[in-house]
Amino acid sequence: MASPIQPPDLTQCQKADVPGGSSPKCCLPSDPVKATDFQIDASLPMRVRMASHLLDAAYITKYNRAYELMRALPDDDPRSFSQQASVHCAFCQSAYLQKNSNEKLQIHFSWLFYPWHRWYLYFHERILAKMLNDDTFALPFWNWDNQAIFSPLPNVIPAVFIENPALVDNTRAPSHQPPTLVDLTYSGKPGGLDPEQQRAENNNLMHQELVSGAKTPSLFFGQAYRAGDANAPGPGSVERAPHTAVHLWTGGDMGNFGTAGRDPIFYSHHANVDRLWNVWKSLGGRRKDITDPDWLNAEFVFYDENATLIKVKVGDAVSTEKLRYTYQNVPNPWITHISSPLSISIAGTKPVSSNGVASPAAAEATSLLEEIEEFGEEVEGKFKQLAGSAFQSKVKRPVKDLFKTLKKQITDEELEEVLVIQGVEVPSDKISKFDVFINLPDANDKTSINIPEFAGTFVNVPHLGMGPGMNRKATLRIGIGDKLEQLGIKDVSSIVVTLVPKGQGKDVPIVIKGIKIEYE
Ligand code: C2O
Repeated sequence: MASPIQPPDLTQCQKADVPGGSSPKCCLPSDPVKATDFQIDASLPMRVRMASHLLDAAYITKYNRAYELMRALPDDDPRSFSQQASVHCAFCQSAYLQKNSNEKLQIHFSWLFYPWHRWYLYFHERILAKMLNDDTFALPFWNWDNQAIFSPLPNVIPAVFIENPALVDNTRAPSHQPPTLVDLTYSGKPGGLDPEQQRAENNNLMHQELVSGAKTPSLFFGQAYRAGDANAPGPGSVERAPHTAVHLWTGGDMGNFGTAGRDPIFYSHHANVDRLWNVWKSLGGRRKDITDPDWLNAEFVFYDENATLIKVKVGDAVSTEKLRYTYQNVPNPWITHISSPLSISIAGTKPVSSNGVASPAAAEATSLLEEIEEFGEEVEGKFKQLAGSAFQSKVKRPVKDLFKTLKKQITDEELEEVLVIQGVEVPSDKISKFDVFINLPDANDKTSINIPEFAGTFVNVPHLGMGPGMNRKATLRIGIGDKLEQLGIKDVSSIVVTLVPKGQGKDVPIVIKGIKIEYE
């Protein structure tokens, strides 16, 4: 039975998750009730989204003017800046229920994350173009993944968002003004790295979340979310970090999903996330769009540049060319980034040998690994609470053949090994984060992430107005096939996984219910 997510009924806005006091206007205009089906206007010129640190003066003037005009629209116009911000708030704070369901609609933390934001930016950009009466207008992208060292730097807050009044948001973190480099693993506490280390960690995070840890569609896009499902089944790799980390690092309005759309940099940040979808697909292998009809046929509604309510499908957003836009070519050096060997990263930590006894040091490390207990997969009533300190568990690698029969169309080569952290629960209203390391039992919050043992990260951005007692639940899935190969432990029967709580939310209680390995 097909069950794609349907657009909500806009007349039924519930303010349940929206705080009374600060009252962001999360409800969208509900008239007209009937949406028109999206039709691409093939006569639109091909628009090129450019890197925001490379814009020329004329483009900057135009960009600022577009937001000036958007900000000047009356608040009740669905194209106004405040209404545009509300769109994000509404679909993040669950202002609507799913159609014919009592489940709250949430477009983050699932396979809807990429396509929903693509459509959101599409209409936002079309409205800005309309303000300028210029169909060639395209949203610049904030190229934070680019760790180039020449000026103007791509990985700081671009000057355009500081020097142009309509593009400024005064709530951003004062300590993150240029030349402070963006921290793509930020979780509310300065990492204290020098610029060279910061660049290396950023590059390795990018490589991990787009290349080695995201070899399949579900690892990249996040988990399936269908009509009637409870929301937020689990985010994809890039959504977890760098996406979330850049929100927190920018700070202020950006640091909370309920208010993020109030900062013009949000749309440029997401243009980069959107660009990375194209880059990921260009990397080959199984890195392709999801083919499940419940993804392709999922539908959303947005107000367009004429304030008409339009219904769109995920399947119509998989090609940016079809939507008549493309991205300026910029280097993506993290694609080929190689992390530093562990022995250089952390003096005194011993590498672990894969097969038998390679050296006394490796033997010692192997026996250390053997002593670690197995937490095991999720069973009723079992949980572990992480707060402040690292947690280690041995994890058995299951027989690959058991999964092969389920995935007949996928070659042995292509079957990906996935580390699954089950039943992750964090308080919704707090920043929290943990990093995941493989066969590095003594990893701690000082451990560099620019090492082969780093496998991925989980970061939570607080939700405005979600009070204490509300938990965000998710399953964390990380592709580890390449990693085990890189570590030389492809043939071992079990590995040791270390979860390291980090950053400002280091002491926040994070619950996990199981750890296992699967193939997909
Ligand atoms: Cu809708 Cu960057 O979050």
